Amino acid sequence: MASQIRKAILPVAGLGTRFLPATKAVPKEMLTVVDRPVVQHVVDEARAAGIEHIVFVTGRNKGVIEDHFDRQYELEETLKDRGKTQMLDMLKRETMGPGATSFTRQQLPLGLGHAVWCARDLIGNEPFALLLPDMLHKPRNGTGCLAQMVDAYAKTGGGNHIAVYEVPPEQTEQYGIVALGNEMAEGVHKVAGMVEKPKKDVAPSNLAISGRYILQPEIFDLLASQERGAGNEIQLTDSMLKLAQKQDFYSVTFDGSIYDCGSKLGFLMANVAYALDNPEISGSFRPELDALLAQN
Ligand code: UTP
Repeated sequence: MASQIRKAILPVAGLGTRFLPATKAVPKEMLTVVDRPVVQHVVDEARAAGIEHIVFVTGRNKGVIEDHFDRQYELEETLKDRGKTQMLDMLKRETMGPGATSFTRQQLPLGLGHAVWCARDLIGNEPFALLLPDMLHKPRNGTGCLAQMVDAYAKTGGGNHIAVYEVPPEQTEQYGIVALGNEMAEGVHKVAGMVEKPKKDVAPSNLAISGRYILQPEIFDLLASQERGAGNEIQLTDSMLKLAQKQDFYSVTFDGSIYDCGSKLGFLMANVAYALDNPEISGSFRPELDALLAQN
């Protein structure tokens, strides 16, 4: 059955200041987790959920992302000549087909809400997925986060969906936090409220918005007003709060681990977690890691 959610936005126009100097010339989305750039992990997650077209919202110095998702003829020919068919097949499998990607420039980093709005014409009048490419969602049971959300979308018969995960109560002030309403299916709740960065004692829960969304196209009309919010940026949450007055929002509690690869610690943790899970290297990586920990 074709997924009802065909298109996804990946905003990749941020400056990545938390990861300087690594991100001075290399986009943070191109930093490698084990054997592929962070953004490739997220594209794989989107495609596994049935996404057919990806809109990248890019900025200056991000051209290498476009190259990464293109075919590299010289490389393919060389691999073919050398009989490296497995590698060739892997590259082909992971490359988006012709016409299945679009790139638009945000021009100025005015915030996530503005980046999403920049994709309005390329998305058109249909529901879409939004994946923040620096947040890696590693599922516990093999079903990716967006696939879990597409499943929940089918169960609720539409609406807007946001993935959430538990954070320690003392960290609620770093995230958008949701208040839960009725349970609609296992791990799927009606959202009763959303609060940006509440302190622990006033937070309605410890469930944080994790960077995966399914949104209805009406969000673009709300983002169009270009109102500045926290940090003088055009905030997506502000428009989601307005949309929630007219449309249903649901939370999908993600079953897995989340790594913020825009931060040094999250990036290092992701590399360790994905390496321990990688059949090609985990056998030799685990004893090396144990030995390293024993020495330090
Ligand atoms: P972040 O909050 O991680 O911002 O954005 P950032 O600028 O990339 O990183 P730091 O905080 O300076 O280290 C979350 C996501 O939204 C995108 C980013 O690329 C990232 O994927 N984004 C953010 C944009 O595309 N445009 C913006 O104006 C802001």
